[in-house]
Amino acid sequence: ELLKGKDIASIAKYMKSKHCKNVFIMAGAGISTSAGIPDFRSPKTGLYSNLAKLNLPFPEAVFEINFFRKNPVPFYTLAHELAPGKFRPTLTHSFIRLLSEKGLLHTHFTQNIDTLERRAGVPDEDIIEAHGSFATQRCIDCGEPYDGDEIKRKIKGKEIPYCNVCQGLVKPDIVFYGEGLPDEFHLAAPSLKNADLLFVMGTSLTVHPFAGLTRLVPRRCPRVLVNLELAGDIGSRTNDVTILRECDIAVRELARELGWEEDLDKLWEE
Ligand code: OAD
Ligand code: ZN
Repeated sequence: ELLKGKDIASIAKYMKSKHCKNVFIMAGAGISTSAGIPDFRSPKTGLYSNLAKLNLPFPEAVFEINFFRKNPVPFYTLAHELAPGKFRPTLTHSFIRLLSEKGLLHTHFTQNIDTLERRAGVPDEDIIEAHGSFATQRCIDCGEPYDGDEIKRKIKGKEIPYCNVCQGLVKPDIVFYGEGLPDEFHLAAPSLKNADLLFVMGTSLTVHPFAGLTRLVPRRCPRVLVNLELAGDIGSRTNDVTILRECDIAVRELARELGWEEDLDKLWEE
């Protein structure tokens, strides 16, 4: 057994041992809620329970490519509210950067499109944005890229951006339902077989294929869920640990056990 116990102190002890070299993270909207960005499925506060005003046939339609073609207004209304730039990374984002600076982070797989991990200073090459991001955008008809500053202006002014070449709709390179995940995701996924530790943070693990990544780590690899509720298959293996708490609180305690708390605060205050 690699872990001596199912608590944060035992995880820290393992992380300090020679057995723990490759740490992987799978993250979702829950790592950004303390920044003020709502998650999707939390009752009351989640985006999907607050989309009524957008007149959607069902909440996920806001991220459906066929619906978007017919009516891009709901998505752009949401984009206006979620516009990156408005929000500051959380302590959890800084912890991910710290893992990277300590040489432990192999890959951070994120479902989030808020780009807060980049803004926290996690190196680009360590991040897989599995559902894309607001970083680039293009025409959904001819594929022509669209200027980043221009789309920011449009979103800010509540206007819909159209292609300068063919007048098609422009969409940020976010993965919608009905679209495939980026090649980088499929190329990086097999590296999970080398995982010594997996953190699953702030995700309900309801969306596939992302949720299936948890099964790619070896049986001996501890899988640590840090989330407000149980999620996916975490808990079904003997080495699984579930920490049902706010992730900012859990990572602070973990950093303290690792002797990294000062480093963490320094990064966060940057
Ligand atoms: P969800 O809203 O489904 O799940 C967020 C999870 O985070 C929930 O289980 C919450 O309990 C938990 N949570 C919220 N705040 C937390 C906190 N401070 N600390 C710890 N846990 C917290 O969001 P995702 O799993 O990210 O897809 O959703 C996955 C995908 O569904 C998204 O990427 C999006 C959506 O449709 C696309 O946009 C394509
Ligand atoms: Zn076009």
